[in-house]
Amino acid sequence: MHRHELLCSVRRRAPAAVCVALVCAMLAGFACAGRRSEKAGDATAIIFKHAKHPRYAYLGKLIEQFEQENPGIRVREEVLPASTDEQHQFYVMNLAARSPDFDVLDMDVIWIQEFARAGWISELTPYVPAKELSRLNRAALQADWQNEKLYAVPWFVDGGVLYYRKDLLGKYGLSPPKTFPELVKIARTILNGEADPRLLGFVWQGMQYEGLVCAALEMIRGNGGDVLRKNGELALTDTATLEALHFMSDLVRRDGVTPPLVTTLNEEAARHIFQSGRAIFMRNWPYAWNLLNKPNSPMAGRAGLTAIPHFAGHASAPTLGGFHLGVNAFSPHQEQAREFVRFMIRENVQKQNFLNVGVLPAHADVYQDPEVKRAFPFPPELLNILEQVQPRPVTPYYLMISQILQPELSAVVAGVR
Ligand code: GLC
Repeated sequence: MHRHELLCSVRRRAPAAVCVALVCAMLAGFACAGRRSEKAGDATAIIFKHAKHPRYAYLGKLIEQFEQENPGIRVREEVLPASTDEQHQFYVMNLAARSPDFDVLDMDVIWIQEFARAGWISELTPYVPAKELSRLNRAALQADWQNEKLYAVPWFVDGGVLYYRKDLLGKYGLSPPKTFPELVKIARTILNGEADPRLLGFVWQGMQYEGLVCAALEMIRGNGGDVLRKNGELALTDTATLEALHFMSDLVRRDGVTPPLVTTLNEEAARHIFQSGRAIFMRNWPYAWNLLNKPNSPMAGRAGLTAIPHFAGHASAPTLGGFHLGVNAFSPHQEQAREFVRFMIRENVQKQNFLNVGVLPAHADVYQDPEVKRAFPFPPELLNILEQVQPRPVTPYYLMISQILQPELSAVVAGVR
């Protein structure tokens, strides 16, 4: 796609973002306020909203522990769709209508500035001691402050990583790629050598949603480009960014390394393909490692994990992701909700979650824990990868930026001009 075509289509589509916001605001008007009785015996029931995702597989156990320690509080999980975009839509509709129907929110790192500015989440500054805060991941915490007030705390962090077929690369005597062109070359060699029509080269999140923004940003920043310039203008037509977008499009159309079905892939769909042995490379978040290596997984012991590639002369630029906890400003159970949030950022809680599910704790001390060091469920290079994570723009308007980017990036992947 050429510079002026990209630019025109950005301008054409910008009003769509405004329409989406308007429709959300209208729908929000219909969301109902008022809350049913929340007593469970003598205890107060609080509602924790979170995504439907394998990352929450151990949450039930943690909640049991919390309830044992806090007999006056019961926690009920209420599940939202898997995609971050749909979860965001739910929150916007309900919080704009000042819904008191849930207490603790599990928020993607990219929403916190928006929710804080709208007055939808309660300030937590007085309730999280500086000592506790100082142990949490610094890059992630940046998203939680606004005007020197704290509105959320990270409980797990994400950084994009590259998974590869250790067995297949080994068979061809190849090392994992450092650059994207190397990845293409390796994938072509193995695809030609294996001559298996079911085997795919490189799968990633190519569906039109937030996951695509994360994956595209890694190619763009790995070429020295970005999506926003320092002055806040869109940088989609800057040379380094355009080059990366061409590469992304060529993966599908010229190199045949990424299948056209990438336009339907989110994290879990990509994982299922890779886990069933049908792809050589996959871009995903760290949670997939634990699932790939489960004893009954066809990929157990056969996958490797390495840094997201970059382009020559540049560095790997994994996108920072992760989820943070906050309290609904309209909840009638502020104190109980805060108790639960503080419980979830405790070192021991995060340690158990890490050892059982493999999502990366926000608590820095977990990585130093002797038991964790012994049982560290990841290849050691993961820690270096985490040092390099780069946040998406930290602004209350991030979702508008993303809504403009998503159709642009999707058009590049789908080859629509
Ligand atoms: C993961 C990340 C989140 C990101 C999302 C995109 O859930 O933790 O930050 O926005 O993927 O799909």
